Amino acid sequence: MNILIVKNDKNGIQAAAIALRAGKLAAIPTETVYGLAANALDEHAVVHIFEAKGRPADNPLIVHIADIDDMQKYAKINDAALRCAQTFWPGPFTMILPKRDCIPDIVSAGLDTVALRCPASKTARDIIRLSGCPLAAPSANISGKPSPTTAQHVYDDFADKIEVIVNGGACAFGIESTVVTLAVSPPVLLRPGAITPEQLRTVLPDIQIADAVLHELPENAKVLSPGLKHKHYAPKAKTTCVTGTTAAFTEYVTARAVPDTAVICFDEEAAQFSQLKTYPYGSEDHPEVMASKIFALLRQTDKDQIKRVFIHTKFSEDIGLAVYNRLLRACAFDIVDAEKKRAFIIGVTGPSGSGKGTFSKIAEEYGFLHIDTDQLARQVVPQTIDALRCAFGDDILSEDGSLDRNKLAQAAFSNEHNTKRLNEIMHPAIIARVKTMIAELTEKEQIGAVIDGAALIEAGALELCDMTVTVWAPREERLKRVQKRDNITEQQAQIRFHGQKDTAFYTEHTHYALCNTSYSQFKTETEALLQTHGFYIKEK
Ligand code: TXA
Ligand code: MG
Repeated sequence: MNILIVKNDKNGIQAAAIALRAGKLAAIPTETVYGLAANALDEHAVVHIFEAKGRPADNPLIVHIADIDDMQKYAKINDAALRCAQTFWPGPFTMILPKRDCIPDIVSAGLDTVALRCPASKTARDIIRLSGCPLAAPSANISGKPSPTTAQHVYDDFADKIEVIVNGGACAFGIESTVVTLAVSPPVLLRPGAITPEQLRTVLPDIQIADAVLHELPENAKVLSPGLKHKHYAPKAKTTCVTGTTAAFTEYVTARAVPDTAVICFDEEAAQFSQLKTYPYGSEDHPEVMASKIFALLRQTDKDQIKRVFIHTKFSEDIGLAVYNRLLRACAFDIVDAEKKRAFIIGVTGPSGSGKGTFSKIAEEYGFLHIDTDQLARQVVPQTIDALRCAFGDDILSEDGSLDRNKLAQAAFSNEHNTKRLNEIMHPAIIARVKTMIAELTEKEQIGAVIDGAALIEAGALELCDMTVTVWAPREERLKRVQKRDNITEQQAQIRFHGQKDTAFYTEHTHYALCNTSYSQFKTETEALLQTHGFYIKEK
């Protein structure tokens, strides 16, 4: 499809309206973020929105109108709704009301309510008027990505999927509208935005704030708005939000910075991080500036191929609440207080016989706990035995009914399919155990832990780590070590190496790689690495 990028002048507005009238998609600017619009009354047109975004079908869309009076055509309104409309419209405010039948089910995702917004952007309203229909328009990003605040962002996500983008420049607010449901009593703030809680209380004195605005919901929790439970705004990099003073933030980030780390910080503190890529997002006391920059910066970290992001985050009740809410989602609720000690987790991986255990022993001298995943695999047998029997039959048991690890190995490693089944059972059990151990370390304010395992990458365990290291050595050397260590023949060692990943696989997924051929050199390099991250030998 040839995409048309047009100005927000008369011709551009007309091009968008023509596409929309023909049941096609057009990306339009608003004062909050760009919207991916379709005729809200045409369910065939709306299907394309869900397809293009990869949006879950259970997440309803906002219907945009150009004239306040139109609200009664699409929703059943009451006094509170009227007062809200008069006070906050046109503007960055969305209200949820019982819907009328003309709104197709696909728009409301089967709910009996509809979200309505009359945007302040004149371009947006002109497009709605000229197309002659209300517009269903979610933010114009691929589902899960940061919302678009420029036409370029929309183009980056949808180059070949939509007809037209109307370029209205950078969006004024940069964060999506405030969403309030009036379909329940008292009304509830579902998504904070540029209209602040204080402003809302002037019209809706009894308004509540939904738990999900500031807290991670338990899985399967009942939510007032489906959008609250979907993953959001996440950059590709592992992202952590950090609260606390500039000094504490600086110390926290400096210890945890790995190659390709970036810092999103307040303007005042950008100079603190001369070694790191910094993205200042506004002065500490200007959350409205942060709101206008944050999505663009999150997208920029992807473009710059950043692997790790730390965001200095500050809570406030004004527009800052909207920024805080988006950041909590961008980091998947990985938020820490820099003033409190949090265990530092090192993941060490690499092929058999490379010396992961040696690395762990050195780190133990620095106060790290050694978590050996082979040992954990034994510890989780009681939880996994039923699943293992189900997968591999009772042949894996010894005569007294306990697990025979040799028999299990024979059954599981006989082919790829069985190995995969074994991993599907064992990895989640081991990870759950590791998570509990990490939480205990933080609780006790311990330094941290080294998790050591050949399968950390496949098991998804790197996600739990602040720093990841591959330890490697040439294959011949490793073969000899494994024979000696486990007292096995060369042939047995060869069999064990069969099917193992090569060194490149490990180094591609980890922050550092250390070669372990000479012990003294390996020890020096390991210690240097620990010291770079601010750790020193534990005093006896
Ligand atoms: O600023 C904005 O609101 C932008 C611009 C384009 O207007 N639009 C936007 O749409 O942010 P979207 O789809 O990205 O977010 C709409 C949110 C979602 O979290 C959705 O779950 C919620 O509103 N929502 C829509 N209809 C709802 C309903 N009937 N009940 C509860 N929540 C609803
Ligand atoms: Mg969105």
